[in-house]
Amino acid sequence: MKHSATSSEPAVKPRSRAAWPLSEPTLAYFPDARFVSGRDLDAGVMPPQGSGGSVVDAPQDLPESHGHVPVLLERCVELLAPALTRHAPDGSGAVLIDATLGAGGHSERFLTQFPGLRLIGLDRDPDALAIAGRRLERFGDRVQLVHTRYDGIVDALTETGLPATGSVDGVLFDLGVSSMQLDRPERGFSYAQDAPLDMRMDSEASLTAAEILNTYDRGALTDILRRFGEEKFASRIAGFVVERRARSPLQRTSELVEIIYDAIPIPARRTGGHPAKRTFQALRIAVNAELESLSAAVPAALAALRPGGRIVVMAYQSLEDRIVKTAFAAATASRSPEGLPVELPGYGPEFTAVTRGAERADADEIDRNPRSAPVRLRAIEREDIR
Ligand SMILES: C[S@@+](CC[C@H](N)C(=O)[O-])C[C@H]1O[C@@H](n2cnc3c(N)ncnc32)[C@H](O)[C@@H]1O
Repeated sequence: MKHSATSSEPAVKPRSRAAWPLSEPTLAYFPDARFVSGRDLDAGVMPPQGSGGSVVDAPQDLPESHGHVPVLLERCVELLAPALTRHAPDGSGAVLIDATLGAGGHSERFLTQFPGLRLIGLDRDPDALAIAGRRLERFGDRVQLVHTRYDGIVDALTETGLPATGSVDGVLFDLGVSSMQLDRPERGFSYAQDAPLDMRMDSEASLTAAEILNTYDRGALTDILRRFGEEKFASRIAGFVVERRARSPLQRTSELVEIIYDAIPIPARRTGGHPAKRTFQALRIAVNAELESLSAAVPAALAALRPGGRIVVMAYQSLEDRIVKTAFAAATASRSPEGLPVELPGYGPEFTAVTRGAERADADEIDRNPRSAPVRLRAIEREDIR
């Protein structure tokens, strides 16, 4: 397997599970703060999962089993199979981009089911690449992994020897954070674990949640919490952050959780899930420039598809789903000048919808895999309009 990474592996970090540090008065307000509820899964809390084994060439403390159950796996295979088997039933001659490789769960299934398929796996997280690399090693040179943000798809294709347009048969996006990222408290994604205020998906990137919280002015913080977290008390929380950091810089997730509890009025704390959920989501989106990255990646992925090629995107929160929905609506719209009674030849839509609107996970899947509860899956196919 070829593994292309833009930089070196991250340092080994100790696997820690810090004791919950909230003060007793805070816990009296929020006795459930120690626990995880199903509706909070998308915002950075996962039940603890076992770690097992170690990974060659990867930090030794990474869980190889990941505890990650790929979301809507059967449906993804069903939706992409027609595009991947156009040349041959075993996928020979077809290329699939897994733009969010994660632990490699989806990729492993595609490579197993289609023994001729070539897969290009992207992830911005070097730990994920190391874990997935190990998992997919047995598929040899059918797999190429690239350390990049998914909006770097054009460069990734070039690096793997493919043209940036019209060269792949399928693209899969399974957005958001992975179980592996959530399961490592020291990365700071979870408000249920005390950890440094980090939240970087790429441990080699420079911007952290601590830097945002300690250096952005109140207006900028309010804007982040409002736009990316749809937090009603954005301005109040931002004000409390600014006041608190004047005493000493914020360093830990537990400090931020306490500030959020103090800032949100008591009656409002009891509704809408964990009070820290929206703020943590907002910071994670800002730290990782998630929406900018997705807005640039979707058009690049569409351009990469050959006629008959398909793209499947799974989004877990409304801001990302809106970006996908808008891009897919534009791609499946007629390009004929408005007002013409007929479609001009060659000006029809470039893509057709494969799913009707957004598909959701059914109750069985949500039971088996609570992470699938918020998912919205959309798929479209490139038309053959030569
Ligand atoms: C939900 S996980 C994918 C899980 C994967 N489908 C599996 O079955 O194991 C999402 C992955 O996407 C990665 N990711 C998120 N945003 C990204 C971006 N802008 N560019 C590249 N990778 C990204 C994360 O680092 C994470 O590993």
